[in-house]
Amino acid sequence: MSASFLQVPASFDAAAIRSEFPILTRQIGGQPLVYLDSAASAQKPTCVIEAMRHAMEYSYANVHRGLHTLANETTDALETARQTIATFLNAASDQEIILTSGTTASINLLASSFGLGLKAGDEIILSEMEHHSNIVPWHFLRERLGVVLHWVRVCDDGTLDMEHYESLFSAKTRLVSLTHMSNVLGTINDAKTIVALAHKHDVPVLLDGSQAAVHMVVDVQDLDVDFYAITGHKLYGPTGIGALYGKMDRLRALPPWQGGGEMIESVSLETVSYADPPHRFEAGTPPILEAIGFGAALQWLMVQDRNAIAEHEEQLRRHVEDHLIACEDVRILGQAKGKGAVISFEIEGMHAHDIAQLLDKYGVAIRAGNHCAEPLMRRFGSSSSCRVSFAAYNTMQDAQIFLTSLQKVRGFLE
Ligand code: ALA
Repeated sequence: MSASFLQVPASFDAAAIRSEFPILTRQIGGQPLVYLDSAASAQKPTCVIEAMRHAMEYSYANVHRGLHTLANETTDALETARQTIATFLNAASDQEIILTSGTTASINLLASSFGLGLKAGDEIILSEMEHHSNIVPWHFLRERLGVVLHWVRVCDDGTLDMEHYESLFSAKTRLVSLTHMSNVLGTINDAKTIVALAHKHDVPVLLDGSQAAVHMVVDVQDLDVDFYAITGHKLYGPTGIGALYGKMDRLRALPPWQGGGEMIESVSLETVSYADPPHRFEAGTPPILEAIGFGAALQWLMVQDRNAIAEHEEQLRRHVEDHLIACEDVRILGQAKGKGAVISFEIEGMHAHDIAQLLDKYGVAIRAGNHCAEPLMRRFGSSSSCRVSFAAYNTMQDAQIFLTSLQKVRGFLE
């Protein structure tokens, strides 16, 4: 990585960004909060809180039933959020954006719907570095239909073994479903090559963008990816909302997965016909307030200097990781070039949960555990690691407090 990449532009002001997040003024046990768990869930700026409050206080009803002012206003707000998500991902049309409750729901939607067209012996390519949300829905298809799952190996540095990936395709391969960025290792996978190789075999690709979309600009048309899943709460928005992007011709070919109101064209006692995408996949009342909050979060994110945020997060990651690497008893999981803003680490002889709980006494919030990625942890011979993750609002002071607090925690545990 070039030195210039590490220069944070003078225009970038983490303190100004920080001041937009009210929760960051909190004290934990008498210490200022140092929030380093944004890969699990990011904090929310005031504009998101206000957008949801405004809807609830002033303009709220159910959507798509528009015979009165509030229903029409709320429908407009929901469809504006869909349009914002489309812009964020550079989708060709907002009709390619299905609103879901998060990435887990997006992947379950695709597995359930796409799975209806699969039979015993059909093959799906996944990898060892997936989050459980991109493993278990496919295990359902293995258990229920006899679909065969192939797993791309992860190399020691935390990168995908791309030769192994290429070798896994066969005439029976029906889908590739991989993470764009590992929530444990921070590895950012080469999405363009992954998609291009799959398309050479006429196989569609789903990318789990839960982590990647936070730290980099994602352009689904440039990636030429068929499906892309994101979640609101990691993107500075609320919980309970996410999206599944799908190319329109792919979505048109998929049967619905959940039945209910809003997803039909017509229903009788004898028969049913379905609405076009995206509504075909949105049975029931959608997460209206959450979608409005998500739209506000993405609008907030899109007016920031995304490159400057990425460079800032990288500077924090490098600072902390360089300190950790210098300790002989520390093992970092994942050393891929260009990795994103997470660091998973173990300290010899100390349990990750003990470290996290003691750090909390200093106001420092990190995650510890298997990070919903048991196969990956097993691959690296670890049952539990600590994970520090950075967001736009973190400062060098946060990084410094973390390192000083970790030193004190080591004093207790040694
Ligand atoms: N998937 C979230 C994480 O990695 C919860 O922490």
